[in-house]
Amino acid sequence: MSLHKSREASRLPIAPLGNARHDGVMATHYFTACSLDGFIATSDHSLEWLLRQQVDEDGPMSYQGFEKSIGALAMGASTYEWLRRHEPDTWPYQQPTWVFTHRDLLTPPGADVRLTHADVSAVHAEMVAAAGDADVWVVGGGELAGQFADAGLLDEVWVQFAPVTLGAGRPLLPRALDLELLDVARNCDFLCGRYGVRSRQGE
Ligand SMILES: NC(=O)c1ccc[n+]([C@@H]2O[C@H](COP(=O)([O-])OP(=O)(O)OC[C@H]3O[C@@H](n4cnc5c(N)ncnc54)[C@H](OP(=O)(O)O)[C@@H]3O)[C@@H](O)[C@H]2O)c1
Repeated sequence: MSLHKSREASRLPIAPLGNARHDGVMATHYFTACSLDGFIATSDHSLEWLLRQQVDEDGPMSYQGFEKSIGALAMGASTYEWLRRHEPDTWPYQQPTWVFTHRDLLTPPGADVRLTHADVSAVHAEMVAAAGDADVWVVGGGELAGQFADAGLLDEVWVQFAPVTLGAGRPLLPRALDLELLDVARNCDFLCGRYGVRSRQGE
């Protein structure tokens, strides 16, 4: 998830190399780190298994390059609460961020954090307008990314596989989708894959 600017947070996201757009057209990305067996967090939302891995922040698919291409973010309430628990005094993003929730969560002072339970299509339109020429990032979790995919709004999935199995946890992307492998890279402990979303299976 590329969630942060602290040392801990900066280890989370590993990202595209800057060629993520489709011929200059804005694209919507879901990229995240993941266990080898397809979980982005443990069942109790721990990322300890991820934070102890090694990553080169200036290496292939590093977060620093990715964030420069992003103009708006969306995330679910659990992801947002993880960020707030781990960095209670800061908010890591300058870009406008939509947090999907049915609750009246507290937002960081001065941060552009917008709580919503609107339809993902309507929110996506707002995100695209806010992002200008930049791309849009669905930070997670997997079910929220799936909702964007259901609406035909997800262009690419970037997964950074950590050398860990968890056995259970929060799912990467609980949908049946056909993807195309576009690119691969190794960054220290991580196997990084970039996939284009082609279609829902059976369509
Ligand atoms: N490995 C990584 O790099 C990475 C990346 C991203 C996230 N994560 C972690 O993965 C975990 C993801 O948690 P999660 O699976 O529970 O997913 P999540 O998307 O972070 O949170 C799910 C919650 O979001 C709200 N929500 C989702 N869709 C909604 C909608 N359409 N409208 C309104 N509210 C909506 C609901 O909360 P309410 O109950 O408030 O309505 C729902 O319970 C977190 O622990 C996060 O820290 C890891």
